[in-house]
Amino acid sequence: DLLTALPAAGIAAAVLGGCASTEGAVTGVDRVLSISLGQTESHPSYGSLVSFGERLAEATDGRYGARVYANNSLGDQQETVQLVSDGAIDLAVISGTQIENSSARFLPMNLPGVFDDIDHQNRVMLDDSIVGELFASLEPQMRLTVLGGYTQGSRHLYTAQGPIASPEDLAGLKIRVQESEVFLRLIENLGGVPTPLAYSEVYTALQAGVLDGAENNEISYVTQRHYEVAKHFTMTNHLVGFDFLLASTDLLEEMSEQDARLLKDAWNETQSEFVEIWKRETDEAVQQMTEQGVAISRPDPEVFAPIIEETGVSILEDPRDIALYDAIRAVGDEGSGR
Ligand code: GCU
Repeated sequence: DLLTALPAAGIAAAVLGGCASTEGAVTGVDRVLSISLGQTESHPSYGSLVSFGERLAEATDGRYGARVYANNSLGDQQETVQLVSDGAIDLAVISGTQIENSSARFLPMNLPGVFDDIDHQNRVMLDDSIVGELFASLEPQMRLTVLGGYTQGSRHLYTAQGPIASPEDLAGLKIRVQESEVFLRLIENLGGVPTPLAYSEVYTALQAGVLDGAENNEISYVTQRHYEVAKHFTMTNHLVGFDFLLASTDLLEEMSEQDARLLKDAWNETQSEFVEIWKRETDEAVQQMTEQGVAISRPDPEVFAPIIEETGVSILEDPRDIALYDAIRAVGDEGSGR
């Protein structure tokens, strides 16, 4: 795509200057921060990021604001990680799998079975004693600061031909996965043929029959209109995913300490209201799926759960990863009163 072919300085100029009068532009602030997002404008993270920009503008008296570039218009996630690292984009929402590709230390957060549900995940992500050091770990070399992020909710399988009642039904089916070791193994262990592909290309690949299915949460399935090309939705609950918000460390260091603090506060407020928004919109997505004639099946969890859990645990080898995994699990046990 065009933007990623430009040198970093060119992109920064295009992002910060050239777009000031186009749709979605932010006016009345001195410095408009660019935020890259892979979702459509109807996905809840878009609205949430827009309100983050408004909070930021208000808190800083207009010294900073933000503009959200939806639909991967600044590049697919793998590219935007690099662009934020270079300082060409200020902030980006990046799936856990992409962070894992930059630093294997994030792996335990992407595992099937590590989070019981989104409330558990939320408690972990707000717990500085678990995530603080990890979130700062990309700063020295990559110049990336992890500010937190958004839940991706529970992920499920969907297929063009269906339904998928058990792993046997997945045999030989090409299932799109994110570009990640964890997802490759998971689909393999479930009996399918994992096919890594960028998010923005999934619709066309399903439509062309290059893929037999994919996996995602209800909201992405609906906002990407995948229901038009893969109508069988199987509630496997195989993983509670997370989208990280990355910021350019250089940007945060260039800001006055006070403004950097205000930015983090504005983000924390935004993040803390998101879980409830997500739950509400997931219910609405399921409603829309029903209206669109999607065949939703809820297989016996015991059919998939052992493979899912086993895949998660089998990937952990490094003692540091195991320690993080255990710390996350311990928070889960507290929360559920177990
Ligand atoms: C979800 C997630 C995205 C991710 C996408 C995918 O929509 O929020 O960050 O890119 O899944 O499957 O690639």
